[in-house]
Amino acid sequence: MTPHRIGDLNIERADGIAVLTIDRPTKLNALTNAFWADLRAALTLVETDGQTRVVILTGAGEKAFSAGGDIAGFADMDGGQTQMRAFQLDAMAGFGAIERSPLTVIAAVNGYALGGGCELTLACDFAIASETATFGMPEAALGLIPGFGAIRAPEVIGRPMAKYMVATGARISAQRALEVGLVQSVVAPSALMNEARALAARVAAQSPYALSVGKRLMNRQIDQTAFDYSVEAITMLQCSDDRAEGVTAFVERRAPRFGGEKA
Ligand code: COA
Repeated sequence: MTPHRIGDLNIERADGIAVLTIDRPTKLNALTNAFWADLRAALTLVETDGQTRVVILTGAGEKAFSAGGDIAGFADMDGGQTQMRAFQLDAMAGFGAIERSPLTVIAAVNGYALGGGCELTLACDFAIASETATFGMPEAALGLIPGFGAIRAPEVIGRPMAKYMVATGARISAQRALEVGLVQSVVAPSALMNEARALAARVAAQSPYALSVGKRLMNRQIDQTAFDYSVEAITMLQCSDDRAEGVTAFVERRAPRFGGEKA
């Protein structure tokens, strides 16, 4: 099938496998504000093409899977609570679309998976990482928290580990991510896509009906009503002085000076 592009997402399909590549390597595949709608459109495309059985999500280049939400794009959002809430709803709908997809979605993490990149890994059904991948949720340095990660990471990597990552912003190695259950295998960088395709081929050989029913069953305790709490929490933070300072500091490449508002 001919390659397709929706926004920053390249879509290549062959043999029942769709590879979705976040293709913005000069910005470390940072996720623009339009990304979430593009992701949903890409998923709908492959879910309805009558051929795709499994999806691999990866990043272009060798440095990053995704360095997370486009921080410069955050700075452009100045429409107050209404705009912030709409943005957050849109992003959560993107994560939700992966979780609700009848297709198995595998993350092939080829480098930095920070912020939204780490959260995308959490949203996928399972993940394979290159030895050079690193994972982190450093949003608190921007006056934010990971809206999806804060509700999903505790059940995947454990509550203390999730809090450790959010509170310190520490980056963990692929090996550590394997130990805590964030990824299911780690391979050499040069082997990543071949291994991901081999895994995907195994998935594609199973009954798609059985797998979609199984995914729904295994995801049954995933509480998407928690999204509502998350959207309100992140909207509040997005409108805070600390977030304004955090984003300005990132853009100016300096340490933030937080005022410390109370929740
Ligand atoms: N949003 C927007 N742009 C980003 C970005 C992001 N999340 N992450 C990286 N970029 C851009 C940089 O601004 C830079 O652009 P420029 O070359 O036009 O100046 C380019 O990508 C390369 O990044 P740079 O910071 O120069 O690379 P580095 O190797 O020195 O550092 C990181 C890599 C990942 C450690 C660093 O980019 C970083 O901390 N990114 C932000 C991670 C983050 O906080 N994510 C959560 C967002 S909610």
